[in-house]
Amino acid sequence: MKKTIGVLGAGTMGAGIAQVAAQSGHKVVLVDLNTDQLEKAKSNLEKTLSKLVEKGKITDAQKNEIERGILYSSDINDFATCGLIIEAIVEDLAVKHKVFESLEKIVAEDCILASNTSSLSIASIGGSLQKANRIIGIHFFNPAPLMPLVEVIPAVQTDQSTCDEAVDLMKSWGKTVVVCKDTPGFIVNRVARPFYGEALRIYEEGIADFATIDWAMTEIGGFKMGPFTLMDYIGNDVNYAVTESVFQAFYYDPRFKPSFTQKRHSEAGFYGRKTGRGYYDYSEGAITPTPTKDYALGQQIVDRIVAMLINEAYDAVFMQVATAEAVDLAMTKGVNYPKGLIEWSKEIGTKEILNRLETLFLFYGEDRYRPNPLLKMSASI
Ligand code: NAI
Repeated sequence: MKKTIGVLGAGTMGAGIAQVAAQSGHKVVLVDLNTDQLEKAKSNLEKTLSKLVEKGKITDAQKNEIERGILYSSDINDFATCGLIIEAIVEDLAVKHKVFESLEKIVAEDCILASNTSSLSIASIGGSLQKANRIIGIHFFNPAPLMPLVEVIPAVQTDQSTCDEAVDLMKSWGKTVVVCKDTPGFIVNRVARPFYGEALRIYEEGIADFATIDWAMTEIGGFKMGPFTLMDYIGNDVNYAVTESVFQAFYYDPRFKPSFTQKRHSEAGFYGRKTGRGYYDYSEGAITPTPTKDYALGQQIVDRIVAMLINEAYDAVFMQVATAEAVDLAMTKGVNYPKGLIEWSKEIGTKEILNRLETLFLFYGEDRYRPNPLLKMSASI
């Protein structure tokens, strides 16, 4: 018998996670305090599944079964029979504490309690539990039904059996699973920071404009989206908040320093697509800026950002956040990078990457560019 899965929060992530669980044959209980949100989740799922039927990906009978498998509720007592609960509510530790304390009173002793948090530590969320050996991070990517990656994050309190069970379950849902240490940003949100941060820095120095940097990273770098287009998709408010929280959580390590440009865009309400203006103007009739298609400049931009990304990937491995294989899987399956960064470093040559970083470090004299020791070791072999 498959476990009944509880999902708390029927927003962007919760609704998607509930869909994945139901499609994998589980009974699901989806709880949200806001009944409008539950209605919205229900009708969105109906639309999504109808499209899948049209495309011939699932049958009508399967659609009905998935829909019947989800109980929409605003009462957390309906979680009583769940074997796993994944929390996906507002990113606020005090609220999460309250919610987990209530959950613990309802569920069985062996029910796994998971959080989909992006920026809070799993240890801190588990801190309010009586039985904290069952707390775990199960971090999906947006949209949860489409993005293959799931980061599983055991906290210092977590039992190995809880972690093993979470990994097996996510694999049974068809997900690519990476296990990582309970450190800020886990893998993806840590390693990806220079994709945004270094692009913003290059812009701030006047080396190139948004369109040129985006052109270089897609055309020459092979990334699906340039950094500024991507930040406009994610939302500058959201992306800035993640950057700031990672910066603070790393005790203000200059490698993660946020940018004034992004802060100002966020302050101005230039969030991106959702507000009609970000780094680009999305209003009707707006003129799309043309990049300067200078290949030498473009290569210089790509070389610098990719070197910074690779340095960050090495740091995650060096600090035992995850294995090199897991870091490469995470960046290709979680954020669609064209190649795993460790693999990419071998292709370019670790000596070359080290040389790029040492040149930047020497020129700027900033700690931000310090090469990682593991990269130095690799380059010396
Ligand atoms: P959202 O704002 O779309 O949805 C949150 C939902 O939780 C809302 O429907 C709200 O009514 C409900 N809620 C709030 N407090 C509640 C409570 N006490 N009890 C029951 N329901 C409650 O948020 P989103 O974007 O889905 O994020 C949820 C969590 O997932 C956050 O921890 C976030 O950091 C994380 N996350 C978000 C990603 C994203 O791209 N949006 C990606 C990965 C993780």
